[in-house]
Amino acid sequence: MNEKRAFITGISGQDGSFLAEFLLEKGYKVFGLVRRMSNPSFPLIDHLLDKVTLIDGDMTDSHSIYKALNEAMPHEIYNLAAQSFVGTSWKQPELTANVNGLGVARLLENVRNICPSAKVFQASTSELYGNTTVMPQHECTPFQPRSPYGISKLYAYWMVVNYRESYNMFCCNGITFNHESERRGIEFVTRKITHGVAEIVARKRNKILLGNTQAKRDWGYSKDYVEAFWLMLQQDEPVDYVVATGEQHSVQDFIDEAFKQAGFDKEDVAYHIGIDERYYRPADVNYLLGDPSKIERGLGWKAKTKFSELVKIMVDSDLKLMGVNK
Ligand code: NAP
Ligand code: GDD
Repeated sequence: MNEKRAFITGISGQDGSFLAEFLLEKGYKVFGLVRRMSNPSFPLIDHLLDKVTLIDGDMTDSHSIYKALNEAMPHEIYNLAAQSFVGTSWKQPELTANVNGLGVARLLENVRNICPSAKVFQASTSELYGNTTVMPQHECTPFQPRSPYGISKLYAYWMVVNYRESYNMFCCNGITFNHESERRGIEFVTRKITHGVAEIVARKRNKILLGNTQAKRDWGYSKDYVEAFWLMLQQDEPVDYVVATGEQHSVQDFIDEAFKQAGFDKEDVAYHIGIDERYYRPADVNYLLGDPSKIERGLGWKAKTKFSELVKIMVDSDLKLMGVNK
């Protein structure tokens, strides 16, 4: 049988759902690791449930990873599972380290023993750069993580590099800058804003309460980024790449664009925004901007969706969910 098999951890999340769709379209047999829940519900992959094979397991449980890999016997592994919210990593640093850091050790050890020729993609992050003053950040920029989340992902990054160099395994890091979509979790700032704007249009509330609106990020579209993950595993050699747009915007820019897309006048925006110190973090990453020139040269990958298109996709989707028009 020539069918390629892919195993996705974090298949029920934003990126996992887009990646599963992408791989199914390419003819892969797709397996996904999912956690046990009291009330099982996978809203982002509901439409795929008859096309993918879900396997119960957890990144904190080595034996379940062992069983899942034995069942899937994958050619490609995409490790997207994580406690992915930076804010929560301050409240649950130990859990974050266990899932995001040790989880990668568990995965790599099992891959080494069960399917050592499988190619592994690790969802690494621009949070590794943290408090850096280097602009823009590229593959050789020194890491300076500034949260328990960033630190957990730093351990994972180096495990991937070390397993590659020590055991000759095909594993690589996608040092991925922020990427969003209509499937983004509601607690992340972009979705919180677009969902809040839709609620304001629907007259369900008046204000969106936020923290640091001066922070700047390099925001791309998740659907574009999963193609980069796949491309990294189609190469003959494992190479780490920054995945980014190369454009930077502040949270305030995102707010302004979202209200504009929903038909508000610029002078009315400030009334709908409140600052609430609950949404400040003990330490924040103020500026992130990726330099995508290596991935453009090496894989011919370039982010397709521009900032204003991304905001429009998210605002339109939330207005539709709310059942209102602009
Ligand atoms: P997401 O929507 O939060 O998805 C995370 C996934 O991980 C979910 O499917 C979640 O399952 C699963 N998960 C969490 N803890 C787990 C555990 N203990 N065992 C097994 N699965 C577990 O995140 P995303 O935005 O798609 O991001 C995907 C990956 O890219 C993450 O590793 C994230 O850290 C990394 N990343 C994301 C960005 C970004 O901007 N989106 C940027 C850089 C790096 P449940 O559905 O059960 O919660
Ligand atoms: N979530 C949130 N909520 N963030 C806020 C708020 C708020 O009310 N107000 C301001 N912000 C600021 C945060 O302080 C941060 O500076 C910025 O908005 C972005 O926050 P998030 O959307 O939560 O994303 P993140 O940049 O911390 O982390 C995301 O990107 C990383 C890559 O750089 C996550 O997807 C991580 O998993 C990913 O690794």
